[in-house]
Amino acid sequence: MMQGQGARGVQTVSTSFPSLQQSAVQSPQPTVGPCDDPFLLVGRDLETMFTEIHRELEQELQVDGELADMAKYYFDGSGKALRPVIAMCLGHAYNVHTGRVGRAEDSQRKVAIISEMIHTASLVHDDILDHAETRRGKVSVNLRWDSRKSTMTGAYILAVASKLLAQTGSQKVIEILSQVLADLVQGEFMQLQTKQDEEDRFEDYINKSFNKTASLMAYSCQANAVLAEATEQEVQDAFQYGKNLGIAFQLVDDLLDFVSSADQLGKPAAADLHLGLATAPVLFASAEFPQLNDMIARRFSLPGDVEEAFRLVQVSQGLQQTRGLARRHCEDAISSLSSILPSPHRAALVGLCDKVLNRLK
Ligand code: FPP
Ligand code: MG
Repeated sequence: MMQGQGARGVQTVSTSFPSLQQSAVQSPQPTVGPCDDPFLLVGRDLETMFTEIHRELEQELQVDGELADMAKYYFDGSGKALRPVIAMCLGHAYNVHTGRVGRAEDSQRKVAIISEMIHTASLVHDDILDHAETRRGKVSVNLRWDSRKSTMTGAYILAVASKLLAQTGSQKVIEILSQVLADLVQGEFMQLQTKQDEEDRFEDYINKSFNKTASLMAYSCQANAVLAEATEQEVQDAFQYGKNLGIAFQLVDDLLDFVSSADQLGKPAAADLHLGLATAPVLFASAEFPQLNDMIARRFSLPGDVEEAFRLVQVSQGLQQTRGLARRHCEDAISSLSSILPSPHRAALVGLCDKVLNRLK
């Protein structure tokens, strides 16, 4: 069990994992240098990004200011802005490789902004569905206002993002990023159901993780590689980078739900179990403790299920195996960068993999 090919060719099993540094030394893979902090490299772009998003959201408004206040509420600079950082670093790295520096940046920056807007729109809808009370340490939009208005706010953010997407003028980029919306919705649908067949659960989980998290990163990378006029193979490599980084990110997120306190997370710990969700730690643990399978099937709905599942995960190898799988995906992400020329931005993309894994520390 727990083997096979998941989302669009994602390997869902791994055995032992050398450290990132080790693998970088042993193979001709790209390595990370001391000054390659991705957030510093694109810092200037990020500084103005939220002001620009506010301006775009305000520009379309014909009704009162409440919709503007709601739409801007999560664009307050308190998020990690990971998606735009990935998209911009990848765009710069590919421009160096293809000799397009100074020519493709405007459209690539739009892709970065759109990726943050799609992500935020999905968080607005997610908070409604999850009845969230907080987001990044502040009252969630659905609680501060209400669910009906919040639903429309999410749709409004998407509408403005769609306009920006059209402004890229690239039919290919429009097609690529539209796929993300379909994937996000399908990821949420997958999360509503639990596979009854135990053998299928891990692959289903990886597919869901691709749809919910990795798709946006993968397709933003792909779009910016297209805008850099990379070859078909290089465009595929860009997609693979975003996909593997995204899956690693989700694995780490799911791990943190078991190992961090509610204070650190800004939401209750073991939130996924409370929502009925079986993520990698519990799926791995079910191989050692088969009694978890029935709990997974009933989505931890009986009294004591959440507590018992949480305890079993802590004494199992599940946490370590999840960490190992995240590391493996980061290594695959780094490998996909070998097809482009070295540059500070390529090194920053390697550094991002480290950062994703180091959220665990
Ligand atoms: C966060 O999940 C949610 C997502 C990454 C995607 C949510 C997608 C939808 C609601 C589909 C609709 C999409 C659009 C574009 C409107 P989480 O609950 O695991 O994370 P959290 O802990 O941050 O809430
Ligand atoms: Mg949520």
